[in-house]
Amino acid sequence: MAHVLTIGATGLLGSTLAPTLAACGHSVVTHGYSCIAQENADLCDFAQATDLVARVKPDCIINLAALTNVDLCEREPHKAYLLNVVTVSNVVRAIKEQAPHCHLVQISTDQVYDGNGPHLEANVTVTNTYAFSKIAAELAAASVSSTILRTTFFGCSRCANRTSFSDWIVQALRKDVPLKVFDDILFSPLEIKTLASMIERVVCARPVGLFNLGSHEGMSKADFAFALAEVMTLPTKHITRTISTAGPPLDAYRPKDMRMNNRLFERTMGLKLPTLFDQLHLLRRDYLE
Ligand SMILES: NC(=O)c1ccc[n+]([C@@H]2O[C@H](COP(=O)([O-])OP(=O)(O)OC[C@H]3O[C@@H](n4cnc5c(N)ncnc54)[C@H](OP(=O)(O)O)[C@@H]3O)[C@@H](O)[C@H]2O)c1
Repeated sequence: MAHVLTIGATGLLGSTLAPTLAACGHSVVTHGYSCIAQENADLCDFAQATDLVARVKPDCIINLAALTNVDLCEREPHKAYLLNVVTVSNVVRAIKEQAPHCHLVQISTDQVYDGNGPHLEANVTVTNTYAFSKIAAELAAASVSSTILRTTFFGCSRCANRTSFSDWIVQALRKDVPLKVFDDILFSPLEIKTLASMIERVVCARPVGLFNLGSHEGMSKADFAFALAEVMTLPTKHITRTISTAGPPLDAYRPKDMRMNNRLFERTMGLKLPTLFDQLHLLRRDYLE
């Protein structure tokens, strides 16, 4: 079992991942910035990053800290640089100085892809500031023993102040709020608990390298909304299909096809990832609870 420092444990993914790791028997130290955690630190500041790593002495760090708002990254590129690049660079330097045998699991994104998918890891097309900053973070992470996971996810949020894409759909459908969903944006996310359990396997196996980690097949965001409504037996009359360029312009360009080819991860880890359709069916119980 590993002694894992989970950086960004107070966020959307961390709120599911940290309990999953603990339930699997790992000794987990949670980190947050503004929300209360076992350890709090601003990782834009190298002194705080190095103190954190020196105090915790982890043998594995999972880094989830990021600025994930794609439009905000576009409007404030310096903020994206600080939160998505400098934080990782500081953690990497702290590992080199304080915990040279520590393995880093860096969580990246499917936003680094565009054009016809499913994409292999080498097929990067950077189209917005968020993607650019996450690629820079990957490069920083690769200078220590690391697993870099390009991923995306949906599922029932366990984080008080963050909602997921599926939360947004379910909440709107339950309240009969009109929902416009994009037909021209394709993705292949994993359900959040499945992603957490895959990251737990990575903590144990520590494969070095860069991997896509998503579901098979994928679908458009519009098809996802209709399929989720069906799984939840919610009415679809308020869902309208549209395309991402039809409404008022967004600050950041949205890649159109972010579906990932996950074969490298499957081969390396000796497992088979589920289809997106199968993943959707996991949600019913969570949302009914
Ligand atoms: N959300 C998605 O749909 C999505 C999709 C694909 C990939 N990803 C990637 O998955 C990872 C986790 O995303 P998420 O949605 O869970 O993120 P999130 O909910 O926005 O959480 C971000 C975390 O970063 C922490 N943080 C903020 N500023 C910090 C600072 N200066 N120093 C240290 N930590 C700081 C936050 O702490 P406090 O909350 O305590 O302030 C929070 O724990 C990210 O790498 C993201 O790029 C996310």
